[in-house]
Amino acid sequence: MKREQWNSRVGFILAAVGSAIGLGNIWRFPYMAYDNGGGAFFIPYLFAMITAGIPFMIMEFSLGHKIKKTSPRIFAQLGHTLGFRLEWLGWFQVFIAAVIAVYYVAVIGWTLSYLSFSFSQSWGENPNDFFFNQYLKLGNNSPSHLGEFQFGIAVAMSTAWLMTFLAVFTGVKGGIERANKIMMPMLFIMVLVLIGRILFLPGALSGLNYLFEPDFSRLLDAQVWSAAYGQIFFTLSVGFAIMLAYSSYLPTKADINNNAFMTVLINCGFSILAGILIFGVLGYMAEEQMKPLTEVVSSGIGLAFVTIPTAINLMPAPYILGPLFFIALTIAGLSSHISIIEAVTSAVIDKFHVRRKPAAVLVCSMGYLVSMAFATNGGLLLLDLVDYFINNIALLMSCLLELVIISWLLKVTVIHQHANEHSEFRVGGWFVVCLRFISPVILATILAKNLYNTLV
Ligand code: PFF
Ligand code: NA
Repeated sequence: MKREQWNSRVGFILAAVGSAIGLGNIWRFPYMAYDNGGGAFFIPYLFAMITAGIPFMIMEFSLGHKIKKTSPRIFAQLGHTLGFRLEWLGWFQVFIAAVIAVYYVAVIGWTLSYLSFSFSQSWGENPNDFFFNQYLKLGNNSPSHLGEFQFGIAVAMSTAWLMTFLAVFTGVKGGIERANKIMMPMLFIMVLVLIGRILFLPGALSGLNYLFEPDFSRLLDAQVWSAAYGQIFFTLSVGFAIMLAYSSYLPTKADINNNAFMTVLINCGFSILAGILIFGVLGYMAEEQMKPLTEVVSSGIGLAFVTIPTAINLMPAPYILGPLFFIALTIAGLSSHISIIEAVTSAVIDKFHVRRKPAAVLVCSMGYLVSMAFATNGGLLLLDLVDYFINNIALLMSCLLELVIISWLLKVTVIHQHANEHSEFRVGGWFVVCLRFISPVILATILAKNLYNTLV
């Protein structure tokens, strides 16, 4: 009896962490830090983790555990309690998840391509030129070339879609989940090994300084805060109704607070480790090339795909470590992608009373068609743009609404009590203060600024 509960608890943590850990940790976290001034980003990031990440995770776990339904249905029921329609918010979240799925798969495509390059390190001695010019073929970036289709990238993305489709279509995710249980720890260990190799190289420490040294002059810059909150929601997969749905399967006797803290800390700890690796390499590259840190990589969006190959080049057996690293990264990305597509598909199944197979065919084939836009020369530009709007506007809006509904209209105390009743340790008043005051005020301020900037 006891043992079984322990098993299911580990199973739950693995599912939650499996959705959370993905390209958001290794590709997007460093990309956001880089684009927002390194150390200028780090304090807002930690602040967002504490004031929004942990409280949101507890809130979603608690709500899912209490109501035990899937996404739009949970919002439909909450709306019913409150006396107005809320199902649309669930669908808004499904929509955001679907848009993310469509460009996320492009980055999984890059990792698959890099897996094939890694056997012979075909990225060569200049991974920056390789990524942007030889792989993405951005050398000729004049407007007339933006629509040019990149066949290699399209093949890689199609492979990624096929794997996601098979998992969601058959409903048998056992294979990927089992692979993920091995691959996530392996990815973690490989990041540590790579850090061990690069940390003592000349310049590495100046890279770390760039990531961690606070830049207080930018604490008033709303864009940095927007990026930090957006990254926290993206990386933790909260605000997509995914964690709500997962926690509806939690056994009654589960430890909500503990599970939420573990999920957030494992995920964000992993991001910080990846940041140490990537910025360490960046510092080394800057020293080698005698350039400022900010001029080594053509654009933040490719940071991971330039620095990681550079680190792999420096290893004693790159043809072993490289493939292992990119297999693990691909699996981590795929498991997150599957969790997104699964959420979209199950919402469609629930709403239209269709069977799983046709729903999976519909969702994946539509996603596939739209995602092919990212296999063109304009793909990188488009990805940067869509990623910005989704994470800095749509996701923040959805999270703010969810927050206001739960913490103000539904009285957060119910969720707070439910969480504490089902936990070994209790969360105190800070939890309520973050959910009711701090996060809504910050989110509303950032959003107002972002909307103003976009519209005016
Ligand atoms: N959290 C995942 C990552 O960091 O890679 C990405 C993700 C998964 C976002 C699931 C949203 C989601 F619903
Ligand atoms: Na993540």
